[in-house]
Amino acid sequence: METVKIFDTTLRDGEQSPGASMNLEEKLRVAQALERLRVDVIEAGFPISSPGDFDAVKMIADKVRGCEVAGLARANRADIDRAWEALKGGENPRIHTFIATSPIHMEHKLRKSPDQVLEQAVEAVKHACRYTSNVEFSAEDAVRSDLEFLCRVVEAVIEAGATTVNIPDTVGYAVPEEFGEMIRRVMERVPNIDRAVVSVHCHNDLGLAVANSLAAVEAGARQVECTINGIGERAGNASLEELVMALRTRADRLPYTTRIDTQHIYPTSRLVSLITGLPVQPNKAVVGANAFAHESGIHQDGVLKEKTTYEIMTPESVGIPTNALVLGKHSGRHAFREKVKALGYDLTDEQMESAFEAFKALADKKKTVYDEDVDALIAERVLRLPDRYRLLYLNVNSGTVTVPTATVQLLMDGVARQEAGFGDGPVDAAFSVIKKLTGRKPRLVHFSINSITGGTDAQAEVSVRIEEDGVLANGQAADTDIVVASAKAFVHALNKLEHRKQKSFAAHL
Ligand code: KIV
Ligand code: ZN
Repeated sequence: METVKIFDTTLRDGEQSPGASMNLEEKLRVAQALERLRVDVIEAGFPISSPGDFDAVKMIADKVRGCEVAGLARANRADIDRAWEALKGGENPRIHTFIATSPIHMEHKLRKSPDQVLEQAVEAVKHACRYTSNVEFSAEDAVRSDLEFLCRVVEAVIEAGATTVNIPDTVGYAVPEEFGEMIRRVMERVPNIDRAVVSVHCHNDLGLAVANSLAAVEAGARQVECTINGIGERAGNASLEELVMALRTRADRLPYTTRIDTQHIYPTSRLVSLITGLPVQPNKAVVGANAFAHESGIHQDGVLKEKTTYEIMTPESVGIPTNALVLGKHSGRHAFREKVKALGYDLTDEQMESAFEAFKALADKKKTVYDEDVDALIAERVLRLPDRYRLLYLNVNSGTVTVPTATVQLLMDGVARQEAGFGDGPVDAAFSVIKKLTGRKPRLVHFSINSITGGTDAQAEVSVRIEEDGVLANGQAADTDIVVASAKAFVHALNKLEHRKQKSFAAHL
């Protein structure tokens, strides 16, 4: 069977999802999870876009081994030089340069003629090749490009030294048969195509990103670009887990393998969701909470008799834990460590100790600690790293006869500060005080609260989305107290907002 390369762009295109910015440490955690998952290429960021992106690409290139690390660059010298500066410590660094080739982009966005675009693409690839032979070229908005022109560009950039040529469906416009046909034509018409790997990068605006990518593989593409949980610009990118499991489950029709260690799929999916604050929809294929749940009596009966009646893949194959060990107040370090490992986390001794401390505190409040509780506490204690703000203390008073009041203590840039105030409910009071303390005035766009597990002692998981000056940020947190969970989620979102703002400020420089 032929191998298809998995190019993961969770840290670049994925981070472009509204509200999903990650800080340096968080990006490193995701990169290390992708390394364990055995993706072929990690696109770690867009180095010239902000100092934060530069640092993240540099750190990931320096630390990750066993996967190629790519950095994005527009087709100009400054971008490529900056990308190389970040990438050069890597084991097998890749410069990924791009320019749009569709009439709509060339005319309205670039204001360049096709010949100028072709010349710029060739110059950029030649410049990148001065640093490394591992150069990828992307023809942005390839799907809406003139095929003749696209083929000329692809041929010219291969001649200039590109070893991977990417044909993106930037706006998620293609349908599978059409896209497969397009890739087939490029393969037939470009005389030197055998000197490069053909890649595809499909967006999901019509929900067809995975189908389009698979059609391209059947037509000859040997790299697919994708993200964990399908996150990405607008409706997102092709989802890694769906692509990989489709190839694996339907090897009879799609005889292509990947290097992916599928048992790391679920832990990586949860890690990305917990870090970005972007929840995974319950009915999401492969990794959603309902992906292996059988609700109807007929289905349950069938599965109990023979799993394959209603299961085309097993939960174990994607790393969904089947270990039913439930923790409680009397569980010790050993049981906790085993549970953490079974959930797919790879923690240092120090991180394990900190998580264990949080577990003990939770087990004192709550009789049974489930897997989802352990996930939530690891997310807060270990995975999410507060930037500017941290909640130290919260006290609220509310009820039928009192004006809801809140007292909040926040650690802000290392200094503890306290304030009190009121609101029309305890959550509103807590949010108002946090706003007063931080001097921020974000608008709450979305607030939702879910019970992580069953029972009245369950932890509440709060998701918020806030907006300030047109910048969105998501936050998520869990606690047995819903007001505390809300305040922590709000602070989490404020940290993300801060990070996102620095990034968009730098991008406009
Ligand atoms: O969607 C797109 O075209 C991109 C390119 C930069 C590859 O993200
Ligand atoms: Zn994209």
